Amino acid sequence: MEGKDSKAVVFGHALKKEFFVDDNVVCANTGSFGTVCRQAFAATEEAVKVSQKNTDLGFLYELPRRMRRLRSRVAEFVGAKESDIAFVGTATHAVSTILLTHPWKQGDRLLMLSLAYPTCSFAADYVRDRYGVEIELIDVDVDFDGEEFLKTVRERFEAFRPKMFLFDLISSMPVVLTPWEKVVELCREYNVLSVVDGAHSVGLLDLNLDKVQPDFFFTNTHKWLFAPSGTTILYVSEKNHSLIDPLPLSYGYGYRKEDAKPAAPFAERFRFSTYMDSAKYLGIEGALDFRATLGEEAIRRYTNEIANKGAKIVADALGVPFTPAPFPLSMVNVELPIKEVPALATEEFWKKHNTFVRTCEYKGKWYTRICGCIFMEESDYERVAVALKELCGVN
Ligand SMILES: Cc1ncc(COP(=O)(O)O)c(C=O)c1O
Repeated sequence: MEGKDSKAVVFGHALKKEFFVDDNVVCANTGSFGTVCRQAFAATEEAVKVSQKNTDLGFLYELPRRMRRLRSRVAEFVGAKESDIAFVGTATHAVSTILLTHPWKQGDRLLMLSLAYPTCSFAADYVRDRYGVEIELIDVDVDFDGEEFLKTVRERFEAFRPKMFLFDLISSMPVVLTPWEKVVELCREYNVLSVVDGAHSVGLLDLNLDKVQPDFFFTNTHKWLFAPSGTTILYVSEKNHSLIDPLPLSYGYGYRKEDAKPAAPFAERFRFSTYMDSAKYLGIEGALDFRATLGEEAIRRYTNEIANKGAKIVADALGVPFTPAPFPLSMVNVELPIKEVPALATEEFWKKHNTFVRTCEYKGKWYTRICGCIFMEESDYERVAVALKELCGVN
């Protein structure tokens, strides 16, 4: 595999030393928490040290200066204007912020997907219960047909007339890749606010947010980008800056009240909300530096290829069909031959096997999700297969 600078990059176990993961631990569940690379952790550590040398000046000047630099770099990475980018802790934090601070009116309508991430559904339930927002779900199947989906979205827009459509770019479990750019276009056509749950996106695919122009978009940097945990990019297109406020509300809200039309700079309002956590976000710079040494395209290819090879190993061992995941998906559904959560799935069980994968039930079938990672090799998935065979009682 070739890196950006055309130096040969060796993916697989040789790269494990760039992370903190124990040698004997197999990470087949990147899609949940990701894992921080040493360079990202070092960038965070450095930011803590620099700011703590002179706490007041560090917090008042140095960290804000570095956060502006980070914002500019991240904006370039995701193809957005710096002024449309802010940082929040998690994707859950992002979706709560978008939904809970939105100026809903009684009877407004929110459209979502049947496989929305649970914490997105909780935020939707909250606005239903508090503001009387009506919610409808589009039913999505695992063997997903993009064209059919677009037709259904159009039909639901015409019949349900939602104010907002919250949908996944790549869903969590089971894994489905939506034609998100076309969905955003449809939203524009029908004057529906698009909220894209892109939790799984940065690090997996090229983003050009200014071109696609979703209304709201968020993506975890701790899942696929190797940044510290609890770091998420929030993009809000300029025309929607006044439709969102940070949670928690902080000093930035004062600016908004004094200057309600137009609202004070979105990114500035959000900066106050993440004030105490700046060092954590600054780790994203280290992650980007590390990735640049390997090459984005090479990282994505390897991660996708190894995820598919791994999923095939697991599927073959379990005796179930294998359907490869298209690029850029680096998470592959594998159907499990079970009818309920096996009682075996305890901490002790996963500890014994030194690995972990998630399981879920969807529409009466059980799945696991096999994820790729740059330091994984086929032999790792053989170990996952052994664990899953035991879990599912397959001989
Ligand atoms: C599609 C999707 N949305 C939202 C989330 C929530 O992410 P977070 O843990 O950052 O809140 C996840 C987490 O796995 C996810 O997969």
